[in-house]
Amino acid sequence: MADVRTAHTAYLEPSVLRAARALLDDVFAGEMTDADWEHALGGIHAVAWEDGTVIGHGSVIQRRLWLGGRALRTGYVEGVGVRADRRGRGVGAALMDALEPVIRGAYDLGALGTTEMARGFYEARGWQRWKGPSSALTPRGIERTPDDDGGIYVLAVTVELALADEIVCDWRDADVW
Ligand SMILES: CC(C)(COP(=O)(O)OP(=O)(O)OC[C@H]1O[C@@H](n2cnc3c(N)ncnc32)[C@H](O)[C@@H]1OP(=O)(O)O)[C@@H](O)C(=O)NCCC(=O)NCCS
Repeated sequence: MADVRTAHTAYLEPSVLRAARALLDDVFAGEMTDADWEHALGGIHAVAWEDGTVIGHGSVIQRRLWLGGRALRTGYVEGVGVRADRRGRGVGAALMDALEPVIRGAYDLGALGTTEMARGFYEARGWQRWKGPSSALTPRGIERTPDDDGGIYVLAVTVELALADEIVCDWRDADVW
């Protein structure tokens, strides 16, 4: 079984960060951009190791989601991936087992934008699909992000979530969700 370790970005060796990035490049078949990787930095990483090799990664970073009239402190999950030949052995679950306590311990809710294939993975862990319209607070004001509707999942911590309401994320370069 893989060994999962957690650390803030600041405490990970550059070589570990490079290995995690390389893993995600493989997992997402070259579709992981520099911006996608940058979105996964600045929070707590869970890194899965096997025989000195990084075989899984995920991180939680802080964002603000505007929900029900409040800007809620949100633990946003980024860069979750397990090496293809190591899937189905509990590594993904072990990564989330390491990250969800960070969310529960420090944030009002958890959130993430999922790939189509991972929906069932998160749903089985109690994450809920956001059913309402999604938007982002851009430099030009609030703008709808219709392509992300239905692909956002949340984990309630301190607040009750009205899943049919509007959900608005803070601004960042490239993919906002
Ligand atoms: C999604 C992913 C991280 C899951 O990792 P994994 O190591 O294969 O997952 P696990 O073996 O820990 O599975 C844990 C549980 O989730 C289930 N599960 C895993 N992937 C699933 C999926 N895509 N759909 C439904 N259930 C899934 C497993 O059957 C298992 O259930 P069990 O506890 O009842 O046995 C992995 O498939 C992956 O890297 N996918 C490609 C990248 C990706 O889509 N990442 C998500 C970005 S949001």
